[in-house]
Amino acid sequence: MENVLDKYKTVAIADVKIWFKAGTIKDFPSNRGGCIKYKDKQIAVFNFERRNEWYACQNACPHKMEMVLSRGMTGSADNVPKIACPMHKKTFSLVDGSNLNGEDYSIATYPVKIVEDEVMIGFVD
Ligand code: FES
Repeated sequence: MENVLDKYKTVAIADVKIWFKAGTIKDFPSNRGGCIKYKDKQIAVFNFERRNEWYACQNACPHKMEMVLSRGMTGSADNVPKIACPMHKKTFSLVDGSNLNGEDYSIATYPVKIVEDEVMIGFVD
């Protein structure tokens, strides 16, 4: 059976082939997440205004495969921006997707850039 998470792979900024226009800055709430669809992927996008940074990651939480990370709580752990899943509060780094609870599942992250007021997310295909 295909694993629903197989289609989510972290994209390094150097590997970006497509910058997808996810919306404008106003479309995303401050210090919280929004969800967009790119092809068959749900991507959570975070306007981390407290840090003046943007992040994007898979919307699917790898703990129970729930499409919920965009509704999670943003925060910082040792100055690493993180997202806490709203279901069972597992936390993940928004920089590299690592699991900050020490469990072996992680999330895919995607580069974000702001061009004028457009929010662009980087994909490989
Ligand atoms: S579904 Fe995300 S922590 Fe359980």
